[in-house]
Amino acid sequence: MAKIIAGISSSHVPAIGAAIDNKQTEEPYWKRVFSGFEKSKRWMAETKPDVVIAIYNDHASAFSVEMIPTFALGTAAEFPPADEGWGPRPVPVVKGHPELASHIATSAILGGFDLTICNKMEVDHGLTVPLNLMFGSPKEWPCPVIPLAVNVVQYPPPTGQRCYDLGKAIRRAVDSYPEDLKVVVFGTGGMSHQISGPRAGLINEKFDKAFLDGLTKNPKALAKMPHIEYMREAGAEGIEMVMWLVMRGALDDKVKEVYRFYTVPASNTAVGHIILENAGKSAKPAARKKVGARKAAVRKSGKKAARKAA
Ligand code: DHB
Ligand code: FE
Repeated sequence: MAKIIAGISSSHVPAIGAAIDNKQTEEPYWKRVFSGFEKSKRWMAETKPDVVIAIYNDHASAFSVEMIPTFALGTAAEFPPADEGWGPRPVPVVKGHPELASHIATSAILGGFDLTICNKMEVDHGLTVPLNLMFGSPKEWPCPVIPLAVNVVQYPPPTGQRCYDLGKAIRRAVDSYPEDLKVVVFGTGGMSHQISGPRAGLINEKFDKAFLDGLTKNPKALAKMPHIEYMREAGAEGIEMVMWLVMRGALDDKVKEVYRFYTVPASNTAVGHIILENAGKSAKPAARKKVGARKAAVRKSGKKAARKAA
């Protein structure tokens, strides 16, 4: 069976993509940002997911302001990088997983969670920057990625609770997919930032760090936070953080926080990042062996008990 083994979240600041594309990653300003993802890249290389489901938002690239789906699932075989005004980013085409994506669409929609199905879609910095942060800059992305775009651009975006519940619907879908696949869910965007208006440049470190704490330890309460609180505390674009709740909803109630990183600023944004593993489903091969050994011991003692009982 397919299994969600972990979730990660990270900001998607477009200037991070530009720093990579323009080979500025060694400059002190950017080194500070990229150094926070070194451990994450190692974790990813060890974990080797078979599929990533990436919850992200489109910034009027694939969808113009004429048509804005609330939740749009990418079911295509390929998702080319979008032209965001300077030509498409020089990153690999994102390869999808049409079979698992169709299964998620069927499971979610027939289960009462309507999604828009996208058989053709380009992806912007909202998706490609987190892929760079977690995978570096390979010639090809190392695994298929299913994009799921959430509207956080045009009022009204979905509530945190709805996003959390979408995570649960994704979990049910993945759990019922018959093929053995290791799945990692990305939640992207945030953290606090406001790009325009009198509060442009707003950063709220205290709020962001409490959000990270809540995400790990008390997601059910965090999911109840109303939009107005994101806006007031984390700035207008801070609303992107509802997407992190989709990732969290797809994990167990109890998770192991394996890594966290926070730095201010990158461009206008507080960069936050977290890796959460499902307890008992550690991504690390050694830990998995241990679980296997424990199971064998239980089976053994069970046989002994059975022999005794006979
Ligand atoms: C910035 C951050 C974003 O999330 C975005 O989509 C665009 C710009 C910024 O910090 O400049
Ligand atoms: Fe954004």
